[in-house]
Amino acid sequence: MKVIVVKDYEELSKVTAEQIAEVVRNRPDCVLGLATGSTPVGAYEVLAEMYKKGELDFSRVKSYNLDEYYPMKADNRQSYHYFMNENLFSKINIDPENVHVPDGDCKDTDAMCADYEAQIRSAGGIDIQLLGIGRNGHIGFNEPGDFLYPDTHKTDLTDDTMDANARFFSEDEIIPNAAVTMGMGTILRARKIVIAASGASKREAVAGILSGKITTQCPASLLNMHPDVVLVCDEEAYGRD
Ligand code: PGA
Repeated sequence: MKVIVVKDYEELSKVTAEQIAEVVRNRPDCVLGLATGSTPVGAYEVLAEMYKKGELDFSRVKSYNLDEYYPMKADNRQSYHYFMNENLFSKINIDPENVHVPDGDCKDTDAMCADYEAQIRSAGGIDIQLLGIGRNGHIGFNEPGDFLYPDTHKTDLTDDTMDANARFFSEDEIIPNAAVTMGMGTILRARKIVIAASGASKREAVAGILSGKITTQCPASLLNMHPDVVLVCDEEAYGRD
């Protein structure tokens, strides 16, 4: 694993965006695995800026997002569909037909998840997967526990994750307690993975990766098995004050 420690969030965003930009430049029809949450927002801004300056072309790029709340309609402003449109897709020239986010509004989650896996496979697999990390060590919504799931699946969210997500919801909104998420195998099958962590609340989770040990209690620690992972973290997340 390559570890890049940067000073602050601004630098983290630039370095993370550059990891993705390099793949898009080298392979204009690449497949991106994308993430939501606060962490990637800055990197998406940098990518949108690169597009605006004519430095990047997303016209042939395909994307698959990690997860979506369940149940959740795509046009709900709390949905990850909505988040991606607001923060990235509406600011670049990606073809809406090439954009994929798990359907949080489907009736049959098993069929939807199997179809999502099949779509990723038929697109040729993910060239680079962007990840944030939960303060409990989750990636996507693969939550710590006695076991993890390999493929895209529906899952309950832990109290800790619901608590962390509460900041995005107003008092009269219900915080979702379930989601559909890529599984650990879906993530680990990506050719390259970039995981970004910012702030002291991520320190324990980052330490779980840096320990070099693998445990289902810290799903991100499984990234130690992958041959091409870049961990980008700021000094606070790394534990260097
Ligand atoms: P955050 O979430 O970027 O909003 O901290 C990351 C995650 O939970 O995966």
